Amino acid sequence: MKTKIGGKELIEEAAELIRKGEVVAFPTETVYGLGADAFNAEAVAKIFKAKGRPADNPLIVHLFSKDQLNKVAKDIPEEAYILIDIFTPGPLTLILNKHPDIPSITTSGLNTVGIRFPNNELARMLLSKSNTPIAAPSANISGRLSPTTGQAVYEDMDGKIPMILDGGKSQVGIESTVLDLTKKPYTILRPGAISASMLVPYLLEVKNFKGEVKVAASPGMKYQHYAPKCICVGAKLQDRAIMHYKKIANDKCNRPVIIGNLNFIKDLPVNIETLSLGDSVEECMSSFFDTLRYAEKKYNYIILQNFGDFPDFFSLNNRIEKATSHIIV
Ligand code: TXA
Ligand code: MG
Repeated sequence: MKTKIGGKELIEEAAELIRKGEVVAFPTETVYGLGADAFNAEAVAKIFKAKGRPADNPLIVHLFSKDQLNKVAKDIPEEAYILIDIFTPGPLTLILNKHPDIPSITTSGLNTVGIRFPNNELARMLLSKSNTPIAAPSANISGRLSPTTGQAVYEDMDGKIPMILDGGKSQVGIESTVLDLTKKPYTILRPGAISASMLVPYLLEVKNFKGEVKVAASPGMKYQHYAPKCICVGAKLQDRAIMHYKKIANDKCNRPVIIGNLNFIKDLPVNIETLSLGDSVEECMSSFFDTLRYAEKKYNYIILQNFGDFPDFFSLNNRIEKATSHIIV
């Protein structure tokens, strides 16, 4: 299959593809999504196939307007409407009770559904013009780094889907916060740019999911995620990162790099290869996946700063822990 890639000029064609039951990749403010008509089981099956996604990992249903809520969910709690007013369109996914019209493949047989209103011009145009809720996971091959540029989607999806809408770089850069509103206490199943402390004024109580995922609360949590193709380990301290780098660099086959925020890498010795994620937490989130995609091509051993001691970096560190398989040197 030939994969077309382009911007706004392709929007009518993209919407037509969605209506016809095809798959289209599109930008969102978090990461790129791989979308199909959420009500069309055959179309949704094509998403699982293109990604190589396990059938028990449910998809998020993307919406254009609040009128669509009652078509995809039922018994919606009052808090959902409040959060939607305050935080959306934006990087927040709410888990609600599923409407029976949503085919079970979309939610992997769960009786709940994740919904989100993306805040990206092309995503909103696609949702509005195709006139249907769009089911979409991140547009990477299953287990790979999430894509934050059209080019990154192209690397993973060329030849597998008919179209990629390219809207440039995703602003937020890590996937949406997933908040379960189907039972109390309300729980963040996946941390993202909207944190527990931002949500608590509207919910009274919200907790971050902790512990090991056996029967997955959010099935995606039990799968390996966001992993670069090469070895990737974490380091909390610069000295430890340098020591490990030097040890690794002794073997001439290794091409190591240290990746961290500006503060972490700015004083490292000049003979050490480094990549900066940026300064603020927002900058670091926004550049994270793209920097890892760049690094895994140029290097074969990544030493990644672990931000476990910095509460502001909680959500980004969740992705870092996954990329490094929780290894700290
Ligand atoms: O920012 C995002 O959320 C991006 C963009 C494209 O919207 N999407 C995304 O989708 O990251 P995906 O499929 O890569 O991750 C969705 C996560 C998975 O961990 C999945 O298990 C969880 O949300 N999820 C989806 N529906 C769920 C449900 N009904 N109950 C619990 N977890 C659910
Ligand atoms: Mg994903």
